[in-house]
Amino acid sequence: MTVTSMALSVSHLTPHIGTRIDSDGETLLSGRHAQEIRALLETRSVLVFPEIGFDDEQQIAFTRSLGALAYDYNGVPMVNGEQQAIFKVSLDEKVSPTARSLKNSLLWHLDGTTHDVPILASVLTARHLAPAGGETEWCSTYAAYEALPDEDKRALEGLRAVHSNLQLQRNINPELSYADFRRARGGPSKSQPLVWTHRNGRKSLVVGATAAYVEGMPHDDSLELLVRLRDWATQPQFVYRHEWKIGDMVIWDNTGTLHRALPYAPDSGRLMHRSMLAGEEPFA
Ligand SMILES: [Fe+2]
Repeated sequence: MTVTSMALSVSHLTPHIGTRIDSDGETLLSGRHAQEIRALLETRSVLVFPEIGFDDEQQIAFTRSLGALAYDYNGVPMVNGEQQAIFKVSLDEKVSPTARSLKNSLLWHLDGTTHDVPILASVLTARHLAPAGGETEWCSTYAAYEALPDEDKRALEGLRAVHSNLQLQRNINPELSYADFRRARGGPSKSQPLVWTHRNGRKSLVVGATAAYVEGMPHDDSLELLVRLRDWATQPQFVYRHEWKIGDMVIWDNTGTLHRALPYAPDSGRLMHRSMLAGEEPFA
């Protein structure tokens, strides 16, 4: 279904998640459609602007037209003492100082689970692509929660999981040295509800690779529940996979999705430029 309204042409990519918006750069940067885009972001989770070809300045202006920019998150480095609104996403350690921890970007997750207020949204533009792999996938944790049997919804009420830096480090290296383990354990850690009741009244699942364990459950039962929920949420009917073209820009609602990149060679040259919208709502 394609609906043309003013200068936005909107078509849904799957029933639950993902919408393509065809427009021109000038229209998008005018801010005239900011409300409509924000509304689509909330209902459709992932918005694709094919080959829009924004440079950093335009990407920042577009991001800013939708809300407050987020800086210095997930270790975004300062350059010459200035906070950077654009973060270079690359698995190549020569390009990105956080390339090592970005190995977690290949695992299903949402950003900011060790914070009280996670970022609202991320914007990615494709600058260089890997010859193979490097697609990005998102699943709707709203749709996944909604589709759970009532019995599961009842069983999840009140349950909380701990998300931690330690879990992230163990994903990268399951056999940490004792010194590295202690260092990782000293990093951020937060208990979050497994089911997030948003201010809009909708509910989403908060699971993924940052979740270490469910509070108050035996070890294996806790892991089984986390694996089952992640597996449920990432079923094909809840997933949109984007195959990138240079210049594509995608924005996604970080609060109602999990995302991951499919594997690609760290030295493939794949490079994405990311900007972010500051969080507006705590996990609750
Ligand atoms: Fe991420």
